[in-house]
Amino acid sequence: MKFFIKTFGCQMNVNDSEKINHILAERGMVRTEEAEDADIVIINSCAVREKAQEKIFSFIGRLDQKQKIVVSGCVAQSEKDLIIKRNKKVDFVVGTHQFYGMNGIIDNFLLKNIKGTDTTLSKEWSESIPDVYARENRFTGFISIMEGCDNFCTYCIVPFTRGREKYRPYKNILDEAEYLAGNGFREIVLLGQNVNSWKDKKEGVSFAALLDRIAGIEKIHWIRFITSYPGYYESELIDVMKQNRNIARHIHFPVQSGSTRILKKMGRNYTREQYMKIISKFKSEIPEIKFSSDFIVGFPGETDRDFDLTLSLIEKARYNSIFSFIYSPRKHTKAAMIDDNISLEIKKERLQLLHELQKKIQLEDHWKLVGKQLEVMVTGKNPKREGELLGRTESYKIVTFPGNRKPGEFINVTIDSFGPHSLRGIEVI
Ligand code: SAH
Ligand code: SF4
Ligand code: F3S
Repeated sequence: MKFFIKTFGCQMNVNDSEKINHILAERGMVRTEEAEDADIVIINSCAVREKAQEKIFSFIGRLDQKQKIVVSGCVAQSEKDLIIKRNKKVDFVVGTHQFYGMNGIIDNFLLKNIKGTDTTLSKEWSESIPDVYARENRFTGFISIMEGCDNFCTYCIVPFTRGREKYRPYKNILDEAEYLAGNGFREIVLLGQNVNSWKDKKEGVSFAALLDRIAGIEKIHWIRFITSYPGYYESELIDVMKQNRNIARHIHFPVQSGSTRILKKMGRNYTREQYMKIISKFKSEIPEIKFSSDFIVGFPGETDRDFDLTLSLIEKARYNSIFSFIYSPRKHTKAAMIDDNISLEIKKERLQLLHELQKKIQLEDHWKLVGKQLEVMVTGKNPKREGELLGRTESYKIVTFPGNRKPGEFINVTIDSFGPHSLRGIEVI
């Protein structure tokens, strides 16, 4: 039997797909590159915005009638009934905590031509370490350290798709980190909706102490962690970063808005000033650190003044990169009850202004990098230019350069030109 997995959404979904890949390969199934070659198609879905959710439905619409179709992930968790109603083709809907039972789903449902669903949320951590062959690549290893979210930001569906926060035991995380290091992985990314709220109460280990321990593993060149919630921040983290040069000097620190009034409406438990204070503290203690962020524009009630505050925060924080989204009302959330009163035209205009400002900042920063040497991890071939490679810097910038290196190698590149979203250079020999 052959299977195909299509993954939408964040890195936790990518990691879950690696786990599904592992389970299916272990039972002798073969993964295909194209959906039409597979007997079972798994769609690992994302529900974070309406557009992401719609992609799932159009993807299913294009599939063959004869294939078995399983929908997993966040839309599966939050929209089980809608999926079944809208798509008669779907055979099984499995939630974010139940895909570990994929063998039972295949034996008891798919092979018997029985349709079913399982979206039970469980309180226990489901331990699973995908083998190397089941991973996305052989140089960056994802390690889920916690799942779920207790913050309930008023716009966000994630607490409803991933459940309440649960933390993976310290020992299991270390086992996976050692496993990856032993298999040649050079970069580790710790994953969770709220990584900095991770703790192991039994072992008395904090998130900063976990980072410190992983940083001590030989051969791990860069350690990253996503996503950090700006509401919980400990100075211990700065100390640990200072002591360990292999913790990448880049933090994704989503602020969402620069207006305290809007932050309050969003249910984020920090003010603009508190957020900026944390950024300044990091920058004063670790001068080379870079931040990136997420923004939502057009949250209900966002005025021109609120939006100007967002623009001024972007100027102050000078992010390395940002992701910005038009507000999308989501079922189950508090904000969805408030009138979505900003017109699409204004939302689009604000998004455009935000993009232009960030583009200007990135061009200015990239210009300053010309002539400088940066360390780059090779990630693969540049699909847009023959004979060129792609890589990432420590601060997660994309770099293109001519050469013949293997993914996962670390090299130095002298930057000679740039665009708003990437750098170009030549390898230092
Ligand atoms: N745990 C992360 C966010 C995960 S969702 C955090 O707290 O920062 C990724 C991003 O999607 C969020 O940072 C937010 O900017 C965006 N997002 C979430 N819900 C959204 C919504 N309803 N409409 C538009 N963007 C949304
Ligand atoms: Fe969503 Fe807020 Fe939790 Fe992030 S912290 S996952 S935005 S509820
Ligand atoms: Fe999407 Fe679920 Fe991740 S909603 S962003 S796949 S946690």
